[in-house]
Amino acid sequence: MSQDAELFIQQLLAQMTLQEKIGQLHQVSPGGDFDLNLLRTGQVGSLFNADGALTGQGFSKSSSAEQINHLQQQALSARLHIPLIFGRDVIHGFRTIFPIPLAQAASFNPELAEQAAAATAREASATGIRWTFAPMLDIARDPRWGRVAEGNGEDPYLGAQMAAALVRGYQGDDLSAPDRIVACAKHYVGYGTAEGGRDYEGGEVSEPTLRDVYLPPFQAAVQAGVGTLMSAFIDLNGIPATANHHLLTEILRGEWGFDGFVVSDWESIKELIAHGVAEDEAHAARLALHAGVDMDMVSAVYHRTLADSLAKGLLPIEEVDQAVLRILRIKQRAGLFDQPFTDPQREKQDLLRPEARQLAREFARQSIVLLKNQANLLPLQGIRRLLVTGPFLRARAELFGTWTPDGRGEDVTPLDEGLRQHTPRTTELWFADSTDMALHMAHHSDAILLLLGEHPVRSGENGNVSDLRLPPGQSEFLAALAELGKPIVLVIFAGRPLALEKEIPLANAVLYTWHPGIEGAAALAEILFGEAAPSGRLPITFPRRTGQVPIYYNHKNSGRPVGSSDLFITRYSDLLPRPLFPFGYGLTYTQFSYNDLRLSSSTLRKQLQVQCTLTNCGTRPGSEVVQLYLHDRVGSLTRPVRELKGFQRVTLQPGESQIVTFTLTEEQLAFTRSDGSHGAEPGWFDVWVAPDSSSGLHAEFRYEG
Ligand code: BGC
Repeated sequence: MSQDAELFIQQLLAQMTLQEKIGQLHQVSPGGDFDLNLLRTGQVGSLFNADGALTGQGFSKSSSAEQINHLQQQALSARLHIPLIFGRDVIHGFRTIFPIPLAQAASFNPELAEQAAAATAREASATGIRWTFAPMLDIARDPRWGRVAEGNGEDPYLGAQMAAALVRGYQGDDLSAPDRIVACAKHYVGYGTAEGGRDYEGGEVSEPTLRDVYLPPFQAAVQAGVGTLMSAFIDLNGIPATANHHLLTEILRGEWGFDGFVVSDWESIKELIAHGVAEDEAHAARLALHAGVDMDMVSAVYHRTLADSLAKGLLPIEEVDQAVLRILRIKQRAGLFDQPFTDPQREKQDLLRPEARQLAREFARQSIVLLKNQANLLPLQGIRRLLVTGPFLRARAELFGTWTPDGRGEDVTPLDEGLRQHTPRTTELWFADSTDMALHMAHHSDAILLLLGEHPVRSGENGNVSDLRLPPGQSEFLAALAELGKPIVLVIFAGRPLALEKEIPLANAVLYTWHPGIEGAAALAEILFGEAAPSGRLPITFPRRTGQVPIYYNHKNSGRPVGSSDLFITRYSDLLPRPLFPFGYGLTYTQFSYNDLRLSSSTLRKQLQVQCTLTNCGTRPGSEVVQLYLHDRVGSLTRPVRELKGFQRVTLQPGESQIVTFTLTEEQLAFTRSDGSHGAEPGWFDVWVAPDSSSGLHAEFRYEG
């Protein structure tokens, strides 16, 4: 930050009364009875979910530039004219809804994520929102947890790449540009460890696993310049994340040098009382502030108690001042002091732009994963009568997925209509809205397109399930159709990996579309009929059955690993000891071969080149996500059986070959060692260049240290 800017906020702080300081730490999600005088007297630092009721314009779900400018005007009429920062949950698009974050990760394409975040920032900022509570960076190893939909899956490397890209996309190079918004990396940290996948439950994780698995995406966000972080609801290792000084101050500020601000999650400061670490609101407020939470999201306990705690000498004023400075710093960096208002004209030009919709379609295409394609049933060709059925047949807003407060169903081409627009003239589409009709019509059709899955309400915050199978009735429907012996293309819409052990064998082809967003219908249709080819890869392991979770590819080996000759190996007695589909898995309409793995040396000193030749040996153009995995054979702490260390998306024409090169550095071998330090240890390493986490070409090298 420039010296001038730092001086400016210091001088502002020096003029502030205690009430004004505490005001900056207070974030409100106002209802219709909100007292605007709080703004006029400088007692609020941030508003979110501002809606029409506040400006006397009645209820509107989304806010508008006019409403937000009106509220900003009130805040600027206060003595020191400090602008508000308007926040909102703009999670995977604003009006133009992109695929859910888990689907975005399935694209293994951070550049697309960056572009989508930039398009989202442009839309949200056009209505005056300058701060989003995204990206969500929680590593998730348990798909029962509903919030698995909101993050990038199970892998820290992929998670870190996506984190940095999303932060760059939202914030750009210059946060003060009017079409950029401040990002908020959430939920710091370990929220995905919630026991049993039950949201809000506590979790336990060792310090090395915390540092090597859960923290890397957040560190990447900080390195990319993220302006804010949100502290998680979770009780992690006995200290709720919102009261955790080690995480919020020692690691975040001390080790990583973060200079922005931390906001609590919704009422998570007050919840310190229910957690049983605070006696009352005043105690909760002191714990959170001391730990490093600068802004109180809606619980109002800073607002109600900090002045009294200061008067009683229970709190040093320096802790308040520091939090105020961090908030002012980000407001300054976002250009709010110079440009507090939003040009209302932008709303007319910047929402739902054709290029944003195009991007949403491309993102959906690249995030859909082909899990099975028996006898190359897909792309569908030469089908005279295609029966289309299933609960998603007429889907519109259901294609959005979780957290889309500003998405509108009327902006979406319904699935049946999208299919109609892309079906070749030689294929007749038959739609069946009920199971009875479908069974009746199936006899006379040449193939069946079955659209199953979970409604968005079944994933997202607190959308946890104890059973990962399809919702009731759907599997039976598939089984009944399968009895008829017609080829079946199964399409699954979902916010998580579902356990499809029984369903996969019944279908001839299976596409996993997640919740694909506003252009989902067109993207799916293009893939079904071959205008586009699928190229997504699983960013999370797919279990066979619910009882198999947590299951993730980068696990430790155990003393009796799967594959060893011992009788007593790690397994369930009633289940194959493998996932249904491994992390990184996904097919396309052509085939790729991997040949000729070469290392530039058998020893890594500072770095090493890993090369292989990739060939499109099929008959159609296609994209492959080439993945680089490592395994450290011996460590001072046990090491994962494989860890992703690189990936590249490569597009090749039929018959074309390309040499794919990865550079491995010493840093990529590093981990949290038994003495707590971070670094690599000398010894032998396995390396794979692979199409997924369970296969690939193998080589080995030594690291000398
Ligand atoms: C969620 C956050 C969200 C916040 C504000 C909380 O319940 O955990 O992810 O940003 O609400 O809506």
